[in-house]
Amino acid sequence: MELIIKDNGQVASEAAARVVARLVHEKPNAVIGLATGSTPLMLYRELIRLHKEEGLDFSQVTTFNLDEYIGLLPEHEQSYRRFMNENLFEHINIKMENTHVPDGMAEDVPASCAAYEQAIVDAGGIDLQVLGIGSDGHVGFNEPTSSFASRTRIKTLTRQTVADNARFFENDESRVPHHCITMGIGTIMDARMNIMLAFGENKAEAVAATVEGPVASIMPASILQHHANAKVFIDEAAASQL
Ligand code: GLP
Repeated sequence: MELIIKDNGQVASEAAARVVARLVHEKPNAVIGLATGSTPLMLYRELIRLHKEEGLDFSQVTTFNLDEYIGLLPEHEQSYRRFMNENLFEHINIKMENTHVPDGMAEDVPASCAAYEQAIVDAGGIDLQVLGIGSDGHVGFNEPTSSFASRTRIKTLTRQTVADNARFFENDESRVPHHCITMGIGTIMDARMNIMLAFGENKAEAVAATVEGPVASIMPASILQHHANAKVFIDEAAASQL
């Protein structure tokens, strides 16, 4: 695990964007795994800048997002599909049909999850996966105690995650979906490179446990210690408990 500590999230995100840009230069048809949440926003802004100012070309890139809430239509303001469209896809030259987000409205969820896994395999596997981290150490929506061997599946959000995410639902926990579809930890570990971003004081404990703690399913992100090519980009505040 390579740890990259920068003064602030902006500088760390620019460094992470350079890693993504290098991949896209070297492999124009790269397969990239993407994350939502507030953390990757600066990375996505930097990728948009690189596209607009330096011609970074996404026309052959394929993406797979980590997760989606169950029961939200793609156009819902808080759906992860809409988040990705608004914060990245609509601002770069990616083909929408090459972008994938789990289907939170699927009638047959297990079949839809299996199809998502198959689509990743058919695309040649994920070259680079972008990750955030929940304050409880979750990656995607793989909450504490998720199996390290897990694949894309339905999960129930923990009370902590529902509380953390209520700010996006008018601070009303009853509006937060309690179920989601998420890539599994096994799916994430299959990516050829993982880059995790974590900023701010409220991630410091999870970052310390991820980087220095034992590898344990109670801290899902700690499995990255076993990944051959994992980079963790953090700011000073997120590094404060290391
Ligand atoms: C959600 C997402 C995760 C994300 C986490 C942290 O739970 N499913 O992928 O890492 O939130 O969000 P934030 O970056 O807003 O702190």
